[in-house]
Amino acid sequence: MVLVVGVMMVMNVGSAHDYAEALSKSILFFEGQRSGKLPPTQRMTWRKDSALHDGSDIGVDLVGGYYDAGDNVKFNFPMAFSTTMLAWSVLEYSKAMGPEADHAREAIRWATDYFLKATSRPGVVFAQVGEPYKDHNCWERPEDMDTPRTAYSVSRQLPGSEVSAEIAAALASSSLVFRQVDPAYAKTLLDRAKSVFEFANTYRGSYNTSLGRIVCPFYCNFGGYEDELIWGAAWLFQATKTSYYWDYVVQNVRGSSSSYAANFAEFGWDSKNAGINVLFSKFVMKGGPYSSLFLPNADRFVCTILPESPTKSVKYSPGGLMFKPGGSNLQHATALSYLLIVYAKYLNHENRTVQCDNVVARPQRLIQFAKSQVDYILGSNPLGMSYMVGYGNKFPQKIHHRGSTLPSIKKHPKKLGCQDGKPYFDSKSPNPNVLTGAIVGGPDIKDQYSDSRLDFTQSEPTTYINAPFVGVLAYFKSHHKA
Ligand SMILES: *[C@@H]1O[C@H](CO)[C@@H](O)[C@H](O)[C@H]1NC(C)=O
Ligand SMILES: *[C@@H]1O[C@H](CO)[C@@H](O)[C@H](O)[C@H]1NC(C)=O
Repeated sequence: MVLVVGVMMVMNVGSAHDYAEALSKSILFFEGQRSGKLPPTQRMTWRKDSALHDGSDIGVDLVGGYYDAGDNVKFNFPMAFSTTMLAWSVLEYSKAMGPEADHAREAIRWATDYFLKATSRPGVVFAQVGEPYKDHNCWERPEDMDTPRTAYSVSRQLPGSEVSAEIAAALASSSLVFRQVDPAYAKTLLDRAKSVFEFANTYRGSYNTSLGRIVCPFYCNFGGYEDELIWGAAWLFQATKTSYYWDYVVQNVRGSSSSYAANFAEFGWDSKNAGINVLFSKFVMKGGPYSSLFLPNADRFVCTILPESPTKSVKYSPGGLMFKPGGSNLQHATALSYLLIVYAKYLNHENRTVQCDNVVARPQRLIQFAKSQVDYILGSNPLGMSYMVGYGNKFPQKIHHRGSTLPSIKKHPKKLGCQDGKPYFDSKSPNPNVLTGAIVGGPDIKDQYSDSRLDFTQSEPTTYINAPFVGVLAYFKSHHKA
């Protein structure tokens, strides 16, 4: 029996959400994470200049980029993934973004300007700035930061293929974003993407081994670096349309290890596998010799998610939010929702459906499911709570975020040292600075949320939760009746 899951299922969705407002805020969030010298156009004005000497101790300018989450370290591996996802969001949905596309491009450029600095020396890629243990021991505003700003790099002798190839992916995808609006900049990004990819591919190894306890357990690369190399080549193919990168992707997917194949359902800062299959499905949707390398795995990925799929492997809260292992659960809801709406778009071009054993899912079903996750995040959930800071009537007040928790420089110009932040961390009061647009780690699997700074898996925002959500919100902004 073939069960067709049709266009409409009755959903318990409350009032309609303002996707346009949520989109603007999701992009604004990135201004709160900015490191370096802030421009006059800075809209999140409680933040000021910080980390203005990053790299100066070794004679390299590493000023700029983003703080990753609620701390003040610049972790380039997840930062690059967030940048790639912002770029992909703009590439698919810039029309839907309207005037927000300019802000999104600004958010991308804040990262790519920094990545150009982090890759300016041939044979060296900076992987991180800041000493994570020392940073995490302090509850300090970025503007006051006085922990070591050590710059860690990978090289030919001590390689880091995952961080280098992800930076190549970020630069290549961003070059497409700027191709029309700033061709010279786009060319700079693409040229650098190619050389950084060659470095990543030629000198193979994981930054786990090269940098050790500086990256593990923080952004330890569990999924291996094969996926980042293929992902980097996939974006370089998009940007160059040359057979060199096409062949690289095809040959490496064919020859990939069993751990690569086993990760077909994963997508996030660590594993790019499902993203590769969805990205390349666009080129092989009509069928042909290469389609079997990407389409079956993209379909299988979808089937691990849909609640009605016999092969689903994700879990659901009673309120309908998806759960996968790993901290910051909403990173899965936003990143996987992004892949679903993009895959639905590509499927639609060829009027294709996804078959999960006896269940057939039409593209519209993928979109409808993604909408259920978006609406949950924006407040259609048992607590009636939005998990985006500054959106809706009820949202997280005590996020795990140093800058948001401590008084702003304007209110309290005097330096607050490493331990001076403790009373603010322990305070029962809401954070004084609203980090507008930040999406936090989210509720537990029983739909409960403690709104506590201590519970960082729930209350900490990260750039890679927000970045794919930018594309998702742009889509729903222009497709209200999905
Ligand atoms: C990175 O380190 C983690 C933890 O030690 C390990 O599980 C993982 O396999 C390593 N990844 C690579 C690519 O070596
Ligand atoms: C699309 O596919 C469905 C079945 O999956 C079919 O009923 C419909 O006619 C097709 N539409 C087009 C335009 O081919």
